[in-house]
Order: sequence, then structure tokens, then C-alpha cells
Amino acid sequence: MPRSRNIRKLAWKPANLLAPVPAVLVSCGGTKGTAANLITIAWTGSICSDPVMLSISVRPERHSHGLIAAAGEFVVNLPSVAQARAVDWCGMVSGRKADKFAETGLTPAAALAVGCPIVAECPVNIECRVRRRLELGSHTLFLAEVLAVQVDAALVDAKGRLRLEKAGLLAFAHGEYFTLGRSLGRFGFSVRKRRRNA
Ligand SMILES: Cc1cc2nc3c(=O)[nH]c(=O)nc-3n(C[C@H](O)[C@H](O)[C@H](O)COP(=O)(O)O)c2cc1C
Repeated sequence: MPRSRNIRKLAWKPANLLAPVPAVLVSCGGTKGTAANLITIAWTGSICSDPVMLSISVRPERHSHGLIAAAGEFVVNLPSVAQARAVDWCGMVSGRKADKFAETGLTPAAALAVGCPIVAECPVNIECRVRRRLELGSHTLFLAEVLAVQVDAALVDAKGRLRLEKAGLLAFAHGEYFTLGRSLGRFGFSVRKRRRNA
């Protein structure tokens, strides 16, 4: 592989520059007399495959923090570009002041394994139960087990493969929303032998 030369670096202040990250709609509440709510979260990640787990990092002052802490459940809904405006809006307005499902027109639908609703329009819905929480400082890290996943049937091909590249998923980097660009290769492409033309 070619070496890069003459790269000049600047010392930057410590910052949350990890990018790109997803910007997801997390649904919560809707149980025990609480109204269902939506919060936009960029600080989320896969953290374990057995059991399947993910994390979300939420500031304690968010309305959703109380809902997630009380119910111990939430759903990570992966938005497509069609929901970009709703993603941004749900990250600007608090559920203390607005019914975010009603205002965005997004449809709450039944989850399979948790009490809070999924967002029907989002192509992938990941239903989670909180297993641990860590108070890190500005944010609480909720570590959660994935109990069920729902996917848009239109994304599954005739061979039963999930074609997530057709979902039009969103990415977020340094304050900007992006669509995903073209594929550069499939997992493992760097070590796969090239087929010779016959
Ligand atoms: C793109 C984007 C990403 C965000 N990521 C996070 C996050 O990871 N954690 C967090 O606590 N707040 C995050 N926020 C802010 C919350 O979504 C926002 O404060 C929201 O209004 C809280 O809603 P709630 O009070 O109804 O819970 C993000 C906002 C935007 C627009």
C-alpha cells in the first residue's frame, strides 16, 4: 500500500470528533401513564454481539432520560433521508413541550418486545432493554440488550438478504447531516482475490 508523505498535522483541542456517526430517532415512554417521546441521538454504538447490545449516551436533563431510566426500555429507529427534517426537529424540541409523534406526523407502531412504540416510517427498529447505566459526567451511558429488531420488508430480497444499502440511511458528521455515498467494497474486499477475466 502506498505511503502518504508531507502530511502536516495541527494539535486540536480534545473534542468529540468521532465521525461519521448515525443520527437516530430513539423512541421511549408510552408506558406506565407516560406519553411516548422521540429524541435524536448521535452518540450511539454497537457494543457487544453475544448478547447483542448497543449503547446510547443521554444528558440527564433530557425529558427522554427520565423516561428511559424509569421504563428501562427504548427503541433505536434508524431514519432514512425522508425523515431527516424530523430527526433534526426532534433534536431541537423537548417532549416536555411537544408531542413529537403528532408534530412530525411519524407513526407510533407496536414493538415486539418492549412497551414503547417503534417509528413505523424508519426502515429499521431496534428494541432495547437497559442492562446497565454509567454516569460519565455530562451524559449517562445506557448499555442495553437488543431484544428484537424489525426491518422494512421491502428491504429484504428474494434470497432473504437484508439490503440495507437501499434504505437511504442518514449519517451525521461535525454538525451536518449526510446521505451515504457509493459503496467502496464489501467487508473483506481488501483480502479477497480478484477474479481474472476469462
Ligand atoms: C443530530 C443531533 C444529535 C443529538 N445527539 C444527542 C445525544 O447523543 N445525546 C443527547 O443527550 N442529546 C442529543 N441531542 C440533543 C437532543 O436530541 C435534544 O436535546 C432533544 O430536544 C431532547 O429531547 P427530549 O427533551 O424530548 O428528550 C442531539 C440533537 C441532534 C439534533
